[in-house]
Amino acid sequence: MSAIDTAIRAAAASISLDAVTKSYGSGVKVIPSLSAELRAGEFTVVLGPSGCGKSTLLHMIAGLEHVSGGKIRIGEREVQDLEPKRRGCAMVFQNYALYPHMSVFDNIAYSLRVAGMPKSQRLERVRGVAKMLGLADLLNRKPGQLSGGQRQRVAIGRAIVREPGVLLFDEPLSNLDAQLRHDMRVELAELHRRIRATTVFVTHDQVEAMTLADRILILNKGQIEQFDTPKAIYRNPASVFVAKFIGSPPMNILSATGDGRVLTLGDGQVVANSSHLGPCQLGIRPEDILVDAGDGTITGDVAFREDLGSHSVVAVKVGMETIRVATPFGADVDESPTIRLRFPPTRTHIFDPETGKAIAAGTENLTP
Ligand SMILES: Nc1ncnc2c1ncn2[C@@H]1O[C@H](COP(=O)(O)OP(=O)(O)O)[C@@H](O)[C@H]1O
Ligand SMILES: [Mg+2]
Repeated sequence: MSAIDTAIRAAAASISLDAVTKSYGSGVKVIPSLSAELRAGEFTVVLGPSGCGKSTLLHMIAGLEHVSGGKIRIGEREVQDLEPKRRGCAMVFQNYALYPHMSVFDNIAYSLRVAGMPKSQRLERVRGVAKMLGLADLLNRKPGQLSGGQRQRVAIGRAIVREPGVLLFDEPLSNLDAQLRHDMRVELAELHRRIRATTVFVTHDQVEAMTLADRILILNKGQIEQFDTPKAIYRNPASVFVAKFIGSPPMNILSATGDGRVLTLGDGQVVANSSHLGPCQLGIRPEDILVDAGDGTITGDVAFREDLGSHSVVAVKVGMETIRVATPFGADVDESPTIRLRFPPTRTHIFDPETGKAIAAGTENLTP
């Protein structure tokens, strides 16, 4: 490896956010106080609804926005006061932000040229990246002569060509159509396996989060709702917000009341045993509900069914609530207007009705 290579190439670095805050003007705090450790080489997806502060957070890591308070460390270095170009991050934007008058080659090579890399080496590096991203035959084209997916690949190529220690993505796939989004997800996962840069990927799309992330950081109004692996978040959502945000269709959240022995739904049907006392929100995923499963069932009326090919989703009216149940495609669940449901105890979740936070105790000791 040459001297210039070592100067540009950075090892994957951890990112440490320590009580980071952000307010715009004198108004509201977009990020009240956020602390998190993103591990070196890890793929973190920041997931949350529009306006929750995802881009703000990413821009503060990149240095495109100042922090209002707190510290950001990349590796061992405190970076919150450093210029963007000294932080070792490369960023891919939603709108690609390519130079329209430059060729694909020059777009990708730009940062290497600015860094003073000799031409022969630039050529080699750009060719390598172009090959990896399937752009080898397009190097002489201008961005205007490319499809959306190809442009996005050029933007990614431009970011990774410097082999940065930290790669930041702000909703990079949201302008692409569904098939291309899927293909690019697969490519990004593959790319990360190869280059192992610490990656922060911002999106509001839970499928992207579930499929790409080592860990998902779920953001709600600038605060962390949960930061864990996709599996842990899916299985044990820390709050109603997370439970509803992850999963399609989302987890059913039902109003229930516990008397210390059983949980009762709003219409008076006993749904399970539980030591929970007082009102609560009972959560269960559509695919975890068993249909017509003998003892301990509740009864409801089938309202409608959506056939999705791989499975069907049946909406069942129970009192004032509508419960969504995922059933195997073509199962004859709508022949009778009434249907019996069972909630397996290990698959239920009890949430605090005021705060929405999961109450750990009580979810395990439910029995039919
Ligand atoms: N330059 C700015 N001045 C004032 N408010 C801003 C500015 N940039 C973003 N905001 C506000 O901060 C909040 C978070 O924005 P943003 O980080 O872009 O959210 P997200 O990327 O999650 O959609 C929004 O309410 C937005 O209106
Ligand atoms: Mg944004």
